[in-house]
Amino acid sequence: METAIRALILGDVIGHPGCRALFIHAKQLIKDYKADVVIVNGENSADGFGITPDIADQFFSLGIHVITTGNHVWQKRDILGYMDSHPAVLRPANYPPGTPGNGSVTVEVRGARGTVINLQGRDNLSTIDCPFRAARDMIKKMKQDTDFFIIDFHAESVKEKESLAYYLDGSIAAVVGTHTHVQTADERILDGGTAYISDIGMTGPDNSVIGVEPDMALQRSLTQMPLKLQVLDVPAVIHGVLVTIDPATGRALTIERVRCASSL
Ligand SMILES: [Fe+2]
Repeated sequence: METAIRALILGDVIGHPGCRALFIHAKQLIKDYKADVVIVNGENSADGFGITPDIADQFFSLGIHVITTGNHVWQKRDILGYMDSHPAVLRPANYPPGTPGNGSVTVEVRGARGTVINLQGRDNLSTIDCPFRAARDMIKKMKQDTDFFIIDFHAESVKEKESLAYYLDGSIAAVVGTHTHVQTADERILDGGTAYISDIGMTGPDNSVIGVEPDMALQRSLTQMPLKLQVLDVPAVIHGVLVTIDPATGRALTIERVRCASSL
């Protein structure tokens, strides 16, 4: 009998193209990868900025268990109230005390308890609370009631992401990076048994500039004017990783990159 837990973690869903690709392919991907638990970063799913209750409902109906976010979490304000009744929609755990929503959730996965923690980096992003201390304290508090931890570290800096992975190596199953929208090829299992990748990539439009129209992104760079960026409406590619986890140790066994191109 297969004992390893199979976690499918998919990257930042970008606007309509990302949602469309997920609606078409998520169920088959879950089946193909025999995923026991599915985590998706949804912070760019509503036209590139934020997430709405309707989109979150649709994600859950596809078999997604946990939705993580990041720096755009509050962009669509309807999500604030929705988070109260849907604890599996996370905001970064290291936001200041009193911020709405939860930074972690524990889900039952084939008899094991898996805790997903969402954190946000501070290098080139807002100077929120320390993600290292937040992670350390949460793991310490929850480890008695958790068989394995997975962290979505929504951050810009590879240095910060790798540092967090080494800091937590051996105490959690995986640290996966999100936010840059570009999948990196540095997936590995660290010495202590924690799976790591700097960025799992996006679920977003192919041949774009991190999901938006290239011309507009270029004009913005050339003119330095605050031009509004728009999601490029072309078929998307779904990027992510599959991590297998030994629930007895809480450590990772394997990590592999996932890439699925949508035709629509
Ligand atoms: Fe982000």
